[in-house]
Amino acid sequence: GKDLLGLYNLSKAEIHETLKTAVTMKDILNKKVKEVPTLKGKTVINLFYEPSTRTKSSFSLAAKTLGANVMSISKSDSSIVKGESLLDTAKTMEVMGADLVVVRHSAPGAAKFLADNIAASVINAGDGAHAHPTQALLDIYSIQEKLGQVAGLKILIIGDIAHSRVARSNIWGLKKLGAQVAVAGPQTLIPPAIEKMGVKVYTDLDQALENVDVVNILRIQLERQASGLFPSLREYRKIYGINAKRLKKLGNKAIILHPGPINRGIEIESSVADSSQSVITEQVKNGVAVRMALLYLLAGRENKNENFN
Ligand code: CP
Repeated sequence: GKDLLGLYNLSKAEIHETLKTAVTMKDILNKKVKEVPTLKGKTVINLFYEPSTRTKSSFSLAAKTLGANVMSISKSDSSIVKGESLLDTAKTMEVMGADLVVVRHSAPGAAKFLADNIAASVINAGDGAHAHPTQALLDIYSIQEKLGQVAGLKILIIGDIAHSRVARSNIWGLKKLGAQVAVAGPQTLIPPAIEKMGVKVYTDLDQALENVDVVNILRIQLERQASGLFPSLREYRKIYGINAKRLKKLGNKAIILHPGPINRGIEIESSVADSSQSVITEQVKNGVAVRMALLYLLAGRENKNENFN
């Protein structure tokens, strides 16, 4: 299709094609394969209404590595602060030649709204608590790279499920590929509807950690908590934080993921984040490769090169 809005409307074959393309892209990043400017002459716009370090910079790097022109617009330093609408902002970018708009917004459905109203391709870089498909794809890529395949694995997502677009996109993608997915966290941060997505729900973390292959730890999103956090951060750390003792319980074959940014000492202890079982820094690198793959698949294929058949 024209856009990437979420993993719910991507087929298993499309997910596999993206992952396979990302393997080649990682070879380019690791200088095993020569760079090819398949996006030469294309313009990619990052349109970010919420803060970002990883997603925005990795899209910029991905687009530049493939030879595209890249521009980034943030809410705080653009005419958005003067009241210009999302659609008018995106249309302004289109007039300047945008072929692809990467959008992050606090409103669920913002990316779909843009996709329905502009001719350029739209990639959802996070829309409220709804979806963050490129994060889920890089998480899936990282799991596959470390453990060979996703099908049949037991994957536990821990923490603030209620506010997490990362959790929802991971569940959609991982289940499509045949993983067994469970979530764990305080009842106050787990929406009842999550069970309808076919995941097991635990409030007892130590029970949830048994026989798990992959742990994906989420950040407590204080910025989305309307009325203060319950349990408190101190209680959260004790009951749900992943520390050295819990890592030991997981065993040395399990891997630790976190989309970042991490709150060290809250949902994850530094000794776990920096351990040999942690994939957190590799996830960031994989994020560039996966975003290169997505840009290529959405906008670069007409400039097809023999390296990408
Ligand atoms: N994981 C993630 O989306 O990070 P940023 O908010 O820094 O882009």
